[in-house]
Amino acid sequence: MSFFFIQMSDPQFGMFASRDAAPSDGSFPETELFEKAIAAANRLRPAFVVITGDLVQVPTDERQHEELTRIAGLLDEDIPLKLAPGNADLGNTPTDESLSRFRNKFGRDYYSFDHENSHFTVVNSCLAFDPSEVPSEWEAELTFLKEDLAAAGESKHRILFMHHPLFGDDPTEADNHMSIPQDQRKELLNLAHETTVTAVFAGHWHRPHEVNDGDLMMVITGAVGYPISGGSGLRIVKVYDDRLEHEYFSMDTIPDTVSL
Ligand SMILES: [Fe+2]
Repeated sequence: MSFFFIQMSDPQFGMFASRDAAPSDGSFPETELFEKAIAAANRLRPAFVVITGDLVQVPTDERQHEELTRIAGLLDEDIPLKLAPGNADLGNTPTDESLSRFRNKFGRDYYSFDHENSHFTVVNSCLAFDPSEVPSEWEAELTFLKEDLAAAGESKHRILFMHHPLFGDDPTEADNHMSIPQDQRKELLNLAHETTVTAVFAGHWHRPHEVNDGDLMMVITGAVGYPISGGSGLRIVKVYDDRLEHEYFSMDTIPDTVSL
């Protein structure tokens, strides 16, 4: 059996404006980019679309939220849309307030689902990045992840989606703003290896990047929205029983069809 899904990340409505790169009429440069991404999904018909966080730049800004949800609503209703929170959505240090706001708007911030032969787990990586204000939330998430992945042993693949990468260059790299800090990284990496997770798909960098830790693939996808480098785009991931194949496409190079 084989299928494919589309990963998008960081549509982040309002980021162009935050960088003084938006027109003065208040329109969002993110609009055209996210519309192209959703149109591509409607054309290609993936098993599902996942957006790995940073949905908007300012989570209390209703215009940003409305434009995000307007365009997300253009996705054909028979293509499931899965969301993860990012640091722009929850803050670099999540709080009870920022978690409640996200959950009220979007629903669960960590959960799992199955498709055909594979198990997919959406991780709230912001709790792992800095659990200092909500330590019990991080503990609860870690308990969920351990139980969830332990119960998914029969799946061909266990695949994680999260905003922050576990690491960017080396699994032992020092703490930095670009990946999960060492203490929580070790917990998640050990769990991923123990349960033979195939791949982690993340965002946060606004540029595509790939690295491995043994058999574990750590894949970073560029932004739908404001690009740091590599162009705004999305990733197509093909899932086969024995392997994954994936490729990042900038918005103007997305193929017309996907063959498995
Ligand atoms: Fe971002």
